[in-house]
Amino acid sequence: MISKLVLAALAAAGYSLASPLSSKPYTCQQFSVNIAVDNVTTVVPYLPEIESQEQATHYADILTTRKSPGSVAPQFNLTSLSKTFTIVGDYCTPANPGSNADIVHVLTHGIGFNRSYWDFYLPSNSDPQYSYIYAATSAGYSTISWNRLGIFPSTVADPYTEIQDSVELAVLTELTKLVVDGSADLNLPAPPSKVLHVGHSFGSQLSKALGIHTPELTDGIVLTGFIDTQLGQSDYIASTSLHLVNTNQPARFPPSQYSNGFLTWPDAYANQYSFLAWPSFDSAVLAQAEATKYPFTLGEFLSGSTIASPNSSTFAGPVYYVASELDLIFCESNCTGVVGVDVPATRDTWPRADLEVDIIAGAGHALNLHYQAADAYQKIMQWVGEKF
Ligand SMILES: *[C@@H]1O[C@H](CO)[C@@H](O)[C@H](O)[C@H]1NC(C)=O
Ligand SMILES: *[C@@H]1O[C@H](CO)[C@@H](O)[C@H](O)[C@H]1NC(C)=O
Ligand SMILES: *[C@@H]1O[C@H](CO)[C@@H](O)[C@H](O)[C@H]1NC(C)=O
Ligand SMILES: *[C@@H]1O[C@H](CO)[C@@H](O)[C@H](O)[C@H]1NC(C)=O
Repeated sequence: MISKLVLAALAAAGYSLASPLSSKPYTCQQFSVNIAVDNVTTVVPYLPEIESQEQATHYADILTTRKSPGSVAPQFNLTSLSKTFTIVGDYCTPANPGSNADIVHVLTHGIGFNRSYWDFYLPSNSDPQYSYIYAATSAGYSTISWNRLGIFPSTVADPYTEIQDSVELAVLTELTKLVVDGSADLNLPAPPSKVLHVGHSFGSQLSKALGIHTPELTDGIVLTGFIDTQLGQSDYIASTSLHLVNTNQPARFPPSQYSNGFLTWPDAYANQYSFLAWPSFDSAVLAQAEATKYPFTLGEFLSGSTIASPNSSTFAGPVYYVASELDLIFCESNCTGVVGVDVPATRDTWPRADLEVDIIAGAGHALNLHYQAADAYQKIMQWVGEKF
């Protein structure tokens, strides 16, 4: 048995060991970087910290309360945050890198996952049908996938005041600057020729916000599990009834490390309701997604307005929406007619971009976990090939 120290030393020296993983046609090197955010505007939480499950569930009622037309959003004060966080991710490249390998896809996952969303395998087999990273590296590209703030081993920061949307956008922005510079801290060999941002769900929201606030930092944007008018957020919140993760999954998320500000949904069927569309998924995938789920935070739901405006980008490069037909969280299970190059909400977000939209038939919100994933990846790689 080789000791962990020897393994770490070999990994640091860039060796990969013969193992089932090394038969993949790509290699991944983990990175851990310090990311400083400076004077980011945050929301002073307008709901008190959660003291009990009953109070959390009451917050689900508050967040989904019927509003009268034209009613104003909740009033809150703003403050600012300057802090340094640790962000952990992977740089993956084809085993035999060619000329496309200096085109880097920056992959930002959504709520409920870590970065393995982009490299999803069932524990029982090595079929790569669900792995975006397999598809991208097979097409010759490289990827940076990262754990968002709050997703261990990235810093598990304060779920009320720190794990907020504006802070997560600032982290993506600073991480992107390192990618653009070809930082050795991310294991990059040189500055990439192109940097694409690929998101899922909340990760798409952050990628879109980057395309609005710092369009100079991206060459192309792919948005999955996302449209610009979020229609099903109340359905999602209701289905979770804001379960405390430290009682729902105490072994993985003990109360000593995860306060009541970290939340989840109750079980696999609530997971299915929001993330998967029957019968387009394997029940083993649902079981694996539930067993490896990660919490979201109250702060993420109180701070949406900090990245919501403006809602229009000067970005003039290519933007590709890959929506799921039956997406509950963004489309109330019907994306037809609410996203498209001629749909005002989509078009007006990207008035100058080279815009394309596809809707993947039969898929639900977590596109990568459906039987349609491999076809969707093929569409994305074809689009990247045409644009770059
Ligand atoms: C922080 O940002 C605010 C505006 O967002 C600005 O008014 C203030 O001067 C900034 N503070 C520092 C120390 O840069
Ligand atoms: C905003 O801050 C002021 C001054 O500290 C305080 O009186 C007020 O209650 C705060 N409002 C909210 C909605 O938190
Ligand atoms: C993602 O989380 C799962 C469950 O905790 C874990 O097994 C897996 O190793 C994590 N992925 C990465 C890339 O660390
Ligand atoms: C989905 O929405 C479209 C457009 O609004 C509509 O034509 C279609 O009937 C809806 N689908 C279902 C299953 O209701």
